Amino acid sequence: MRSWPSDRVVLGGDYNPEQWPPEVWEEDVALMREAGVSFVTLGVFSWATLQPEPDRWELDWLDRVMDLLDGAGVAVDLATATASPPPWFSRAHPDTLPVDREGRTLWPGGRQAWCPSSTVFTEHATAVTATLARRYHDHPALAMWHVSNEYGCHNAPCYCDRCAATFRVWLAERYGDVDALNDAWGTAFWSQRYSTLEEVLPPRLAPTHPNPTQVLDYRRFTSDALLRQYLAELDVLRRLSPGVPVTTNFMTLDSFRHLDYPAWTPHVDVVSTDHYLTGALDDPEAELAFAADLTRGLAGGDPWLLMEHSTSAVNWQPVNLAKRPGQMLRNSLVHVARGADTLGFFQWRASRAGAEKFHSGLVPHAGTGTRLWDEVSGLGRACRALGEVVGTRVEAEVALLWDYQAGWACDQEAHPSSRVRYGDVAHDLHAALRRAHVTVDVVPPGTDLTGYRLVLVPTLYLCSDTTAAAVADAAAAGAHVVVTYFSGIVDENDHVRLGGYPGAFRDLLGVHVEELLPLADDAVVHVSAADGGDARGGTGTLWTEHLHLRDARAVLAYDDGPVPGVPAVTHRTVPGSGAGAWYVATRLDAGCLDALTARVCEGAGVAAAADAPTGVEVVRRRGSGRSYLFAVNHGDEPARVEGVRGVDLLVGGDVDGLDLAAGGVAVVRES
Ligand code: GAL
Repeated sequence: MRSWPSDRVVLGGDYNPEQWPPEVWEEDVALMREAGVSFVTLGVFSWATLQPEPDRWELDWLDRVMDLLDGAGVAVDLATATASPPPWFSRAHPDTLPVDREGRTLWPGGRQAWCPSSTVFTEHATAVTATLARRYHDHPALAMWHVSNEYGCHNAPCYCDRCAATFRVWLAERYGDVDALNDAWGTAFWSQRYSTLEEVLPPRLAPTHPNPTQVLDYRRFTSDALLRQYLAELDVLRRLSPGVPVTTNFMTLDSFRHLDYPAWTPHVDVVSTDHYLTGALDDPEAELAFAADLTRGLAGGDPWLLMEHSTSAVNWQPVNLAKRPGQMLRNSLVHVARGADTLGFFQWRASRAGAEKFHSGLVPHAGTGTRLWDEVSGLGRACRALGEVVGTRVEAEVALLWDYQAGWACDQEAHPSSRVRYGDVAHDLHAALRRAHVTVDVVPPGTDLTGYRLVLVPTLYLCSDTTAAAVADAAAAGAHVVVTYFSGIVDENDHVRLGGYPGAFRDLLGVHVEELLPLADDAVVHVSAADGGDARGGTGTLWTEHLHLRDARAVLAYDDGPVPGVPAVTHRTVPGSGAGAWYVATRLDAGCLDALTARVCEGAGVAAAADAPTGVEVVRRRGSGRSYLFAVNHGDEPARVEGVRGVDLLVGGDVDGLDLAAGGVAVVRES
């Protein structure tokens, strides 16, 4: 068994040699050496090639590829190959196909056409895993196991009859009996009361809004069902290939929220994720930074593995923008700055056929005499130069609470405003702090918040008593807290906390809200300093509230809109610790939010990573008595970062104040 390389940032990606004739494999490993590729994820979609018929296995080709990679010193993250079953499997077991909310079968022909609850699928998938584990557990190239691929990407939730039955078992475990379920789901409403669990169904297409707690529980159930599939394969690997680390690639990009990853992280040896830029966003790199900070939060602050990103364009967005010169290096360094020690790409060689043939790879269709290949080789050199950064940890004094379950509850139908989406304010706040060069840990509930100087709680619509207490404990320990609108509204069963919003945080914030007042799409309200204060005013959109102060003071108040004169932003000094507890009751414009977060950070004693111009992203990693400042200039103009002293690891040489070219990057070992 090979150890995961630790003398460099590890570079590599998905390798699908079954798409190419064997002559190409020799060239592949030669080029991998040339580019400094030190790992590949092998065979994610190779089930049909490995087991072309139920009783026939073809493994010789994989032996050959494993040996070639070993000869080239490339560590293998070997896939269990179970992401997508072969056509013979679906034909023999049509009842394993997933079904959508409208009762339509999702047929094979794409990928991942299997039902999360299918035990027939589990049997076959674990058989493939066992075959591979027996054959390769002591192969010298094997460094890690990669179970399946992006669980839930296309097949969750499934609404088939098997899922219905499995859901009932899950509900029996969760609630014990039907009375407890009736209470939790609030079924006194709309004549939904169940007399037995046998009557319960998945939230299939219904005449009108489904029961929101049923929808929420179905998402919890689906995440658990997929986790059970993962655990079945994990169990095989633990038995047949002990000592080899195991992972499965998460998707922490904002557009994917199907799984409750905090329930998964205890079962992976290293947290890994995939990330692709969303071209349609105003600032795709801000979303990248958020996803990286979230991945680190899921990893409990440990270094993590970026399993996939792209060298240039993807193929699945409406318009697939190529990365600009230098953008691949900038994106890669932001991932490393925010805690990745491995940089994987999808995929090694751009496919010649199939649905992803226009997706970029490390080796493009045009071959190696290309800008892209030069950039890949340059990235390989950078990865070697950054070896000493590996294992260090990202420095952050701010935590932002991120809860997938709160998102599932928040983004349902029949709410005050369908424009309020979980994550929007989280991204606003994260982006404001990124502009101010402040690094944020995006953390799941259950994280100890008491060590942070500042805790952000954006649109945490659903909030358990435990999470509310954790936030209050952090404030009592001295952490300043910012809570935004539509937080703490319901408990974990999606029942409203009565007595004035935001029920879970009323006492901490010293306010109560008698009515939620969302704004029409084109409505803008103006806010300005309250009570003779000097806070910078601005505008709010989307949301306002009829709020009353208890023992908080108004910082900003509405000039107009539904409730002129009512506070829009409030502050309470937490007795004992003296920390500030802030409440933001509207969606502030970026300038106003920048001013507010600057004020909050100042009060909390949160420092910027460096004194850098806007458009330059700076993050610090520390470890073993050393400190590394990453600086990435996303702008089109040269920029200078003052006060940085040390050695530039990428180009060598001393630094005293950092001059970055337009689009330039630097990693400085600080003295
Ligand atoms: C990921 C997936 C890869 C590939 C890639 C394309 O979601 O894991 O197999 O499809 O997207 O961007």
